[in-house]
Amino acid sequence: MNRSKRLLRARKLVLIALFIASSLAMLGRYFYAYGQDKSGFPDGFDAVQAAPNSHKVIFENEFVRVLEVTVPPPGTTEPMHHHRWPSFFLDWDTGGGRPHIRYHRPDGSVRDSPGTDEPTHPGTWSVHWMKPEPMHAIEVVGNPKSASTLRAGLPTTCIGCHQTDYNNTTNPGHSAQPQFFPTTCQSCHNTTAWTGAAFNHTQYTQFPTSHGNANNLCATCHTNSNDYSVFQCTGCHGGNNPNNFQHDNVSGYVYNSINCYQCHPSGQGGG
Ligand code: HEC
Ligand code: HEC
Ligand code: HEC
Ligand code: HEC
Ligand code: HEC
Repeated sequence: MNRSKRLLRARKLVLIALFIASSLAMLGRYFYAYGQDKSGFPDGFDAVQAAPNSHKVIFENEFVRVLEVTVPPPGTTEPMHHHRWPSFFLDWDTGGGRPHIRYHRPDGSVRDSPGTDEPTHPGTWSVHWMKPEPMHAIEVVGNPKSASTLRAGLPTTCIGCHQTDYNNTTNPGHSAQPQFFPTTCQSCHNTTAWTGAAFNHTQYTQFPTSHGNANNLCATCHTNSNDYSVFQCTGCHGGNNPNNFQHDNVSGYVYNSINCYQCHPSGQGGG
């Protein structure tokens, strides 16, 4: 490539970068428009999960996921999958025709697109916008040349879009204790609100979160938001003052939360 061609190409790349940046604001709006439609986009069938041979993640951050999409070999059909978010194809188009494909939908209907045979031409950038694409599988009948293309869209995992929320969550501190609050947000949260998370407390202890007047509020018992192995009983029982709490007849009694818990593991009386 000579110098002026290289400059031209560099300028095109800058333009593409600008395009990607400016499209992100729009993608955000699409998220609201399409976010709630689960019917055509069942969990577990994202292209990368369901059809990994033809979809490889080559870049992903909080804003964009770029896939390299490879046309499967002739005579094969990729597994059914979907693309949940809007995206665009980006190609360095040099002509030379298109493969003969059949586009299969889950209801059994098929769209046949015969191959084309065009002369090659000097490369041009081609950008093709795609709305969210429900379940489908592409069968390649014949392919004159092996081809791959880039497809850029939004991330699909919760953490993909909500990394910053995860990092900034202090009550309970999430990133400080991933052993308790891992990045699989969907196991505890829905997509409506962060509060009211479902948390399976009984996997750790039989002590109920509704004990006394704690009312399921984690921080009432877990006084260090970044270390949930710490808990308190004595704040409520005696106001942290041993003189306020009597346990006269019990041998081995100590006014200390860890000891309270040892003798009352489920918060009930009588040891
Ligand atoms: C493609 C990006 C994207 C993905 C993937 C995504 N979200 Fe969101 N989510 C957003 C955007 C954008 C908003 C609205 C702006 C905001 O509040 O951050 C939002 C809002 C939310 C809210 C409301 C926040 C509030 O302030 O009340 C919750 C809760 C939420 N998402 C949970 C989830 C969960 C759980 C998952 C995974 C099952 C998920 N999101 C996947 C982009 C995404
Ligand atoms: C094991 C369960 C669990 C997982 C997994 C989890 N969280 Fe949470 N999260 C909670 C609980 C419990 C709360 C407290 C809910 C409440 O206060 O009602 C919470 C609260 C939050 C809050 C609100 C914090 C505040 O200060 O109000 C945010 C934001 C949040 N989680 C984000 C995330 C994100 C993002 C992920 C995934 C990357 C995630 N969480 C994964 C259990 C979980
Ligand atoms: C009424 C008091 C109380 C409330 C409320 C409470 N917990 Fe606990 N929690 C305990 C006790 C007691 C233990 C057992 C202590 C231990 O195993 O170290 C425990 C254990 C845990 C553990 C395991 C700690 C470890 O080191 O193994 C986690 C994680 C936890 N709780 C999270 C939560 C979350 C999240 C909430 C709010 C949704 C919550 N708890 C509400 C009392 C409470
Ligand atoms: C949010 C405050 C609060 C915290 C934290 C708390 N308790 Fe209680 N607890 C109460 C209240 C309120 C009662 C019911 C009235 C009473 O007996 O004082 C109670 C009752 C009890 C009882 C008697 C239950 C019965 O069946 O008669 C025991 C035992 C007990 N708590 C132990 C504990 C232990 C052990 C811890 C720490 C792991 C703890 N509590 C943490 C408020 C709390
Ligand atoms: C060595 C074991 C032991 C320790 C430590 C201990 N308890 Fe107890 N607790 C008992 C026994 C046994 C009883 C029943 C005594 C009785 O009925 O006279 C009891 C009774 C209670 C009761 C009254 C329950 C009722 O309804 O009669 C409460 C509340 C209580 N404990 C809370 C606590 C708290 C809070 C702590 C920590 C400050 C604590 N216990 C430490 C063994 C213990």
